[in-house]
Amino acid sequence: MSSVPPPAIQMTEVSKHYRRGDETVHVLDHFTLTVEPEAFVALMAPSGSGKSTLLNLVGGLDRPDSGRIEIAGTDLATLNEAALTRWRARNLGFIFQLYYLIPVLSAARNVELPLLLLPLSREERHRRVEAALTLAGLPAERHRFRPTELSGGQQQRVAIARAIVTDPPLLLCDEPTGDLDRSAGDEILNLLQTLNERLRKTIVMVTHDPHAATFASRRIDLDKGLVGERRPAT
Ligand SMILES: Nc1ncnc2c1ncn2[C@@H]1O[C@H](COP(=O)(O)OP(=O)(O)O)[C@@H](O)[C@H]1O
Ligand SMILES: [Mg+2]
Repeated sequence: MSSVPPPAIQMTEVSKHYRRGDETVHVLDHFTLTVEPEAFVALMAPSGSGKSTLLNLVGGLDRPDSGRIEIAGTDLATLNEAALTRWRARNLGFIFQLYYLIPVLSAARNVELPLLLLPLSREERHRRVEAALTLAGLPAERHRFRPTELSGGQQQRVAIARAIVTDPPLLLCDEPTGDLDRSAGDEILNLLQTLNERLRKTIVMVTHDPHAATFASRRIDLDKGLVGERRPAT
């Protein structure tokens, strides 16, 4: 057996289409991508070209029409919905442009949610929540604030804490600074860099912002022939 670890992400000939009225939108067309473990990759493409679709496929939130998606050697097609949910809880964190925090819950309660899927004591959950929020840079006196009492940058820190609280190896970021001004955005991008360098998280960030992409260690410009191709309805 080889001791070389499998790629963090291996997408092979992945296709995905949507139907809109009588039009067929081919979002991914035989798309192939390899991401090595511990990489910080920026996938650059314009709005509407299929970036969110791609991340949803990698995260197992959506299934491809054809092709193979392997995450750290696991072929997602082999997992049913229940197994996929358990797999997701341990193996990846999602970070979105609009944070998707639950408004009636405090920052700490939001971060605790993914831990409820794991067999942990209340004390252990509390310990991990505080550690994740501290690592994400939310000041301790704000851990009990609700999302509406926090700035956009602070809300994204809470969302990042929620993504890392289960200590997954892979973080998927969908335009994580799309709703932030330059200075708050740069702080979030610096935080992602730190998570990559210090905690060795593999990070895939999709963005249409060339400035955000400069924080990654590898930038991939998605080719129009692979993503965003439009064909007549069939
Ligand atoms: N659930 C869906 N149903 C129909 N069309 C969709 C759906 N999701 C995305 N699309 C279409 O697929 C294309 C890519 O969308 P998306 O992945 O959201 O792009 P991006 O994230 O790069 O802006 C767009 O044309 C969009 O309208
Ligand atoms: Mg999108």
